[in-house]
This record gives sequence, structure tokens and C-alpha cells, in this order.
Amino acid sequence: MNSNRFKDFFKNYSGNVDSADNQFFWKLSDEIVLRIIKNYIPKNGCRGKVVLDAGGGTGRWIVKLNKIYKDCDFILFDNSDDMLAKAEQNFKKEGLLNNVKIIKGDLEKMDSVPNESADYAISIYNPISFLLSPQKMAGNLYRIIKKGGLAVVMGQNFFNALTSKINSLASVSEIKNTKRRHIVKWGAKVPELKVFSKETLEEIFKNSGFRDITSFGVPVFVQPGAEDFDSKNKKRSTISKALENDPVFFKEVVEIEMAFNGLSSLVNKGMNILIVARK
Ligand SMILES: C[S@@+](CC[C@H](N)C(=O)[O-])C[C@H]1O[C@@H](n2cnc3c(N)ncnc32)[C@H](O)[C@@H]1O
Repeated sequence: MNSNRFKDFFKNYSGNVDSADNQFFWKLSDEIVLRIIKNYIPKNGCRGKVVLDAGGGTGRWIVKLNKIYKDCDFILFDNSDDMLAKAEQNFKKEGLLNNVKIIKGDLEKMDSVPNESADYAISIYNPISFLLSPQKMAGNLYRIIKKGGLAVVMGQNFFNALTSKINSLASVSEIKNTKRRHIVKWGAKVPELKVFSKETLEEIFKNSGFRDITSFGVPVFVQPGAEDFDSKNKKRSTISKALENDPVFFKEVVEIEMAFNGLSSLVNKGMNILIVARK
């Protein structure tokens, strides 16, 4: 990606992403991701285990996971100075600097992370969508994860991108471009992103040697409103307001998402595709 565009995008993003779950659409989406992680990474026996957060940005998932997986060690890997500076502040505030190794680097290279040095790798909210070669990232994760370990990786959904572009009346040439190149452009300042179906994301990880791949749509039923993409996380969509004001509704929606988000007939309805793959 054009490196200035990348820098500008994440400079702004790093200042706001930690408050994304003020908008309850994102709080709900985070809760679903966390539930899936908890279903696969056991809470007990964490001592000596290493969780790599690939494209972990401001470290907000490490902060969340450290509360559950207290004895694990973490590696935060990212290439944005702005995101990593925010991560350092966050880890300091949480007293977490001793449990986390911060590595600056490119997900397509990752030479600075040794072979078989992590038990689990997570990559949440689509770092893989920013890459020229998603296959290289999958190969790197395969090399870094220990045998039997797991990768939990999220990418933006191709079909959701098409649905959204059609319904927002994007130009025919833009829709055709998304269809042909499996990329999406959400705005002038947002970098072009790669989008995946359940099948294409699974294929990439299968080609790198991963097995037992399971996919989920995140989320499959709830749809964000335009306000949920407010870069300052200040606006409130109708769905975010309802989820915020009615905890019973919030809880029920989480249960419904979790009951059906792994059905192969529904995964491609997800806004994002999340795969869990074993080495
Ligand atoms: C949308 S953010 C998600 C951050 C974090 N996973 C979260 O859920 O809050 C995408 C992250 O991917 C990182 N990223 C994008 N391309 C990258 C690359 N080539 N190498 C390393 N990190 C990259 C960005 O710096 C950013 O922190």
C-alpha cells in the first residue's frame, strides 16, 4: 500500500480505535470475537504460552485477553508507529509492559519473529485486508505458530462489500472493480482493502499448511448504521442506540449471533469473516 496513505490513515485511527466500543454495534462485534476466541483458547494452563497479536495495533485485544489469560505472554506485532505508540501507553497504564513484547514489522515479512515461538496467533479486524500478499502473512503465521497451535484471523467479507456498494448506489465501475479484483474502497482517505469469502480465506490458510479450518461470520445478522463508521466514534446509529439502551436485547442478539454464525450457509453473510485454523 502507498506508505503515506497508510501512515495518515492509522495516525487518525490510532487516536480513536480504543473508544470504538462506545458505539454498541462495535461493542457487540467485539463481544462475538471474544466469545469465539474463548471457545478455542483454553483459559487454564496459560503459563508459558505465547499469544501473538498480528496487526495488533493499539494492543486493545492484548489488554482484553490479559484479563482472561492472566498467565500468558503476548507479542504485539504491527508496522504503524502511531498504533504502536498508543499501544505502549495502553500497556503502561495497565501495568502490562513486562508481559508484552512489542515488535515493529511487516506482516508479509515477520523475519524478526522466530519459528514456532507462539502457541496462538490472533489477527482481529482485518490486518490481512491491508496486505498485497495475504498468502505471505498466512505462511509467516504457519512458520511462527507451534505444531498444534491456532491462528484466529479476521478479514473483510467480499460479499458484504458488494452488498454495501450496491445498496449505497456506488458507480457501476466501482461495483465491477470490487467484483473483479476482490478489493473495496470505503472512502477517499481509506486505503484499498482486500476482501475475502469464507472459501477464499480458508483456501489461503489451507495453502500454507493449516488444517481443521472453521469459519464464522462476524456479525451475520446485525448490520451497522452509517453513524457506526464515524471516525471519532461519537455518532450513534439506531441499532447502536438500541443495543446500548437495552441490555436484554444486547444479550439476546449476542446469543443469536453465536448460535448461527458458524453455519456454512450463513458465514458469507458476515460483515467480516473470521477463521480459526490449526497448524
Ligand atoms: C483495522 S486495524 C486493527 C487493529 C487491531 N487488530 C484491532 O482490532 O484493534 C489494522 C491493523 O493492521 C496493521 N497493519 C496493516 N498492514 C500491516 C502490515 N503490512 N504489517 C503490519 N501491520 C499492518 C495496522 O497498522 C493496524 O494496526
